[in-house]
Amino acid sequence: MSPRLLLIVFLLGVLAPRAARAQAASYRDAREDAFVDSLLSQMTVEEKLGQLTQYTGRWTVTGPSVPQGGEEDLRAGRIGSFLNITGAAVTRDIQRIAVEESRLGIPLLFGQDVIHGFRTIFPVPLAEAATWNPALVEQAARIAAREAAAAGIHWTFAPMVDVARDARWGRIVEGSGEDPYLGSVMAAARVRGFQGDDLRDPSTILATAKHFVAYGAAEAGRDYNTVDLSERTLREVYLPPFKAAVDAGVQTVMTAFNEIGGEPATASHRLFTDLLRDEWGFDGFVVSDYTAVWELLHHGIAADSADAGRQALMAGVDMSMVDGIYIRTLPPLVASGVLPMSVVDEATRRVLRAKVRLGLFEDPYRYNDPEREAATLLAPEHRAAAREVARQAIVLLKNDGNVLPLSRDLRSLAVIGALAADSVSALGSWAALGRAEETISILAGIRQAVPQTRVLYAPGYPPARGSFDEIVAAMLSEDTRGFDEAVRIAREADAVVLVLGEHREMTGEAASRATLDLPGAQEELARRVLDAAGDKPVVVLLTNGRPLAIPFLAEHAPALLETWYLGTEMGPAVADVLFGEVNPSGKLPVTFPRTAGQEPLYYNHKPTGRPPQAGQKYTSRYLDVPWTPLYPFGFGLSYTTFAYDHLRLSTDRIPRDGTLTVQVDVTNTGDRAGTEVVQLYVRDEVASVTRPVKALRGFERVHLQPGQTRTVTFTLGSEDLALYDLHMQRVVEPGFFTVYVGPSSAEGLQARFEVVE
Ligand code: BGC
Repeated sequence: MSPRLLLIVFLLGVLAPRAARAQAASYRDAREDAFVDSLLSQMTVEEKLGQLTQYTGRWTVTGPSVPQGGEEDLRAGRIGSFLNITGAAVTRDIQRIAVEESRLGIPLLFGQDVIHGFRTIFPVPLAEAATWNPALVEQAARIAAREAAAAGIHWTFAPMVDVARDARWGRIVEGSGEDPYLGSVMAAARVRGFQGDDLRDPSTILATAKHFVAYGAAEAGRDYNTVDLSERTLREVYLPPFKAAVDAGVQTVMTAFNEIGGEPATASHRLFTDLLRDEWGFDGFVVSDYTAVWELLHHGIAADSADAGRQALMAGVDMSMVDGIYIRTLPPLVASGVLPMSVVDEATRRVLRAKVRLGLFEDPYRYNDPEREAATLLAPEHRAAAREVARQAIVLLKNDGNVLPLSRDLRSLAVIGALAADSVSALGSWAALGRAEETISILAGIRQAVPQTRVLYAPGYPPARGSFDEIVAAMLSEDTRGFDEAVRIAREADAVVLVLGEHREMTGEAASRATLDLPGAQEELARRVLDAAGDKPVVVLLTNGRPLAIPFLAEHAPALLETWYLGTEMGPAVADVLFGEVNPSGKLPVTFPRTAGQEPLYYNHKPTGRPPQAGQKYTSRYLDVPWTPLYPFGFGLSYTTFAYDHLRLSTDRIPRDGTLTVQVDVTNTGDRAGTEVVQLYVRDEVASVTRPVKALRGFERVHLQPGQTRTVTFTLGSEDLALYDLHMQRVVEPGFFTVYVGPSSAEGLQARFEVVE
């Protein structure tokens, strides 16, 4: 050990312990490990387990009112972190107790779910993925981090990088959809956005890749349900976005609630130690999901809380969220030697290291400046950025006879559907500090955009308000009392915008559905309104957080726009697209089924021994519905048209470790400027194991003026062609590959090349 480090250790040992932070500040460049070890050497078991404990609660410093973890626990060093306490001033007050009044003065970490914005709310993550624009998604996360950091938050529980192939699962809204490649690109972008280049910059926050792992594979799409899948599917489908997040430097990982093949994730040494740390080299810390350690009792693998805590900590889960199990139950296990001190030490080291990396020992109040907070939240440039992301997230699903864009000179326009006026739903689930009163609904956005037009409004189906149960009941109600008024204004106006979908409470955590139909009587309303409108332009806007099964609309609505939940600037962004200020460019990051019975439905499925074939009984089909999706992954139209031409490969033979380039000419063949998302898919034709019929391996957004042509170039290398063989070794096998380049997973030009020995 160098003399300088020795000095630090010495000083830490003899000075008043509370001064640890001041010492760290004066030796800013001391190696983080040495500092952490010296601190660790002074900690009691309780103080160590305190660092591994995260509590929640509303906090008023004058009144107690924390359900768990009060001031006494703070002073005793029994708390390492809080979640869901926000605000530069209040977090400063709490931090002060930890730093000034506890024995060692170790600063707290404040965490919160900052999922798609903090006060300025961006589109829900699924909608952000529909932009296919990682740079923009990174910018959105950067802004969210800047706002959260200004309000005392050091750490977000995002990005959620769970691949979701089943639209019944409510949390599909929180991720980037069904594809591991798109999901990986978005995962890395969000990690970079939240964490920035330097964690010491106080506008950056720790990111969390969650939920490790396969949470999206819940049986029957029911939240928290059992998961059972092969090592192959885990590695090929569910792990890649986590690997991408780790490679991007993510500092924390959260456990999943589910079991996988008999082992609850939160107790899995295989996942958190063997894979995440030993195989991937992750050097941050792991936090459990909310009470997930305690839930090991429900899973039936722990007899009591202490046993649950021991299993989780031994597995490599460093911090327990909310349940307090580590601090409450583990001290005796450490004393008796059942739980090795080395395990506690290692977990504590990891948590302390994160605090060092954020610079909290130098200045624990660097996230606590109320002036910065006031100037940062909802800054005009944040709103402008949110509007841009929202514009790019909108997907045009249908536009018969160019109904869209609507004319700005309409004398009157009927807006129908309670969700049109619902600025709460516009925020989507996990809207952090987003406020409905600062959010522009679809109806308000339309009114602002066309002040000369007489905008008539009728809710049609009942507005959903009140408690969660009341909201769901209102959405599912078959109440048709609002139909007559809707029909009346549809008859009266020059054009109709019909807004259908789900209240935001219908997607997100604990919001799974067994059907994917439009809730309640909405389809019936659509029939009545379409009838009443006759030949007038009718545009249906969908606002929802998951694919919906909408065959009726796909057939009968003249124009259909998927507008998801777009956040604070939803209304203006929707109006920008409706009236042609913006040409839509979003593409679906998930497959839309015809009916929920097709789920899980995804484009990169395996071929099967009997691929479906029309009119052939003994093939992989349904009797009552086509096997195909309603709208495929990657699909999305534009107000202009694009042609793909002259697909060419740099070579038709490469060695296993070789690369080749794929080029295609894309032309804007319409009369408006537009952006196309050009997609590259690959199929391994014959391999030692079955391969997906297609797998996304690249994409690029290309902006083209009318008549303009651009050549898009992709590079394919061994990582794009590799598979896990029967021994789970990653290899590139010789043989033919097909390349597809086109506007979606279902269309495009094809070429072939061969990998040779
Ligand atoms: C969710 C997590 C979230 C945590 C804290 C849990 O219920 O599953 O995604 O981060 O709560 O709010």
